[in-house]
Amino acid sequence: MKALILAGGFGTRLRPLSCTRPKILFPITNKPLLDLTLKKLSINGVKEVILAVNYGAETLMSYCGNVRYGMKIFYSKDTAQPHSLGFSSYRPLGTGGPIKKAEKLLGRDEDFLVLNGDILTNLDYSALMQKHRESGGIATIALSRVEDPSRYGVVELKENMRIIRFVEKPSRDEAPSSLINAGIYALSPEIFDYIPETKPCSIEREVFPKLAAKNLLFGYPFQDLWIDVGKKEDYLKANVFFLKSLKKQFPENRRFNADVRIIEPVLIGENTSIGKDSAIGPSVVLGENVQIGIKVSIQNSVVFPGAVISDFAFIKGAVIGENAFIGKHVKIDENCVIGDGAVIKDHLTLTNHVTVCPFKTVSESVFEARCLM
Ligand code: GTP
Repeated sequence: MKALILAGGFGTRLRPLSCTRPKILFPITNKPLLDLTLKKLSINGVKEVILAVNYGAETLMSYCGNVRYGMKIFYSKDTAQPHSLGFSSYRPLGTGGPIKKAEKLLGRDEDFLVLNGDILTNLDYSALMQKHRESGGIATIALSRVEDPSRYGVVELKENMRIIRFVEKPSRDEAPSSLINAGIYALSPEIFDYIPETKPCSIEREVFPKLAAKNLLFGYPFQDLWIDVGKKEDYLKANVFFLKSLKKQFPENRRFNADVRIIEPVLIGENTSIGKDSAIGPSVVLGENVQIGIKVSIQNSVVFPGAVISDFAFIKGAVIGENAFIGKHVKIDENCVIGDGAVIKDHLTLTNHVTVCPFKTVSESVFEARCLM
């Protein structure tokens, strides 16, 4: 079985963190999201993976290489377009165009999987493929059941799980069901005939409605874990969820002296140091090589590798980027995001959805939602 992972989006909703790394390499409990996806694909019998890349292509290619978890990895780049400075940049092809672009690599011999790269799920991919083969359709969409469908594309199903229409972001009253497009599809090679060549195209908006009109589109509802890691709040939520689902106390946390308080669940990366009288947790992920000073408090947060959190800092509900420097007595809370390499000077407070761009030095407190560039 082959799988194509859509991996080239700009991840604008996750800026500033996505300014310095592609979204699918964001760490989830200290492992890149892509690794969690690849591991699951390999367990489900996938032998070849095609990464449809654009933004961050070089980073992804050098990280992932040609073989991973026993699967061959291939790359398909969106269409090149000339840049005024002489180099080639790549025109984003959306969620449909990259499938057509990878037609040769996917081949016309067998059905294949297509996944949005930013989804965390426990879906059984082989079961989805099996249902697709039985349906006789061209596409089968994995459908996740959510409490509030108003943020998503909601489907209306008829007999045999046939999808008859999509309603984008309906109000709660208008929603025809609580089943939403989970961004994971089993497709037959005939799909290539429905996608234009080398043009941007949205599979959800331009291709699926055409298949639905011809009774060739089916749904596969599933109950397992499903998190779309597209927004900051969901990124934090995904880390906390995975941390809790690891369902163990972390024995390696005992390496810290009794004068460090660890309130589980907490995951601490290698070579990370924590100063005396600090309280870490609950729901905290610290990457590798993080340095934490004395009397620091961190709750419900993710700290990327190499960050420095100085003495007496207080961090709650925040993401701290790679190699960021947080000064002494700094307070950061309520969904703030600090970009890679940013510096927050001593005694400042950042609160209420403040975001700081990579490598920015912040010298004054900010109390309202703002992006500091
Ligand atoms: P936002 O800008 O925050 O909406 O994120 P995004 O650019 O990743 O878009 P979206 O979340 O809708 O993308 C869903 C999946 O498709 C993600 O895994 C993206 O990496 C991927 N994707 C989106 N647009 C493109 C594209 O133009 N080319 C390729 N190759 N992949 C894409």
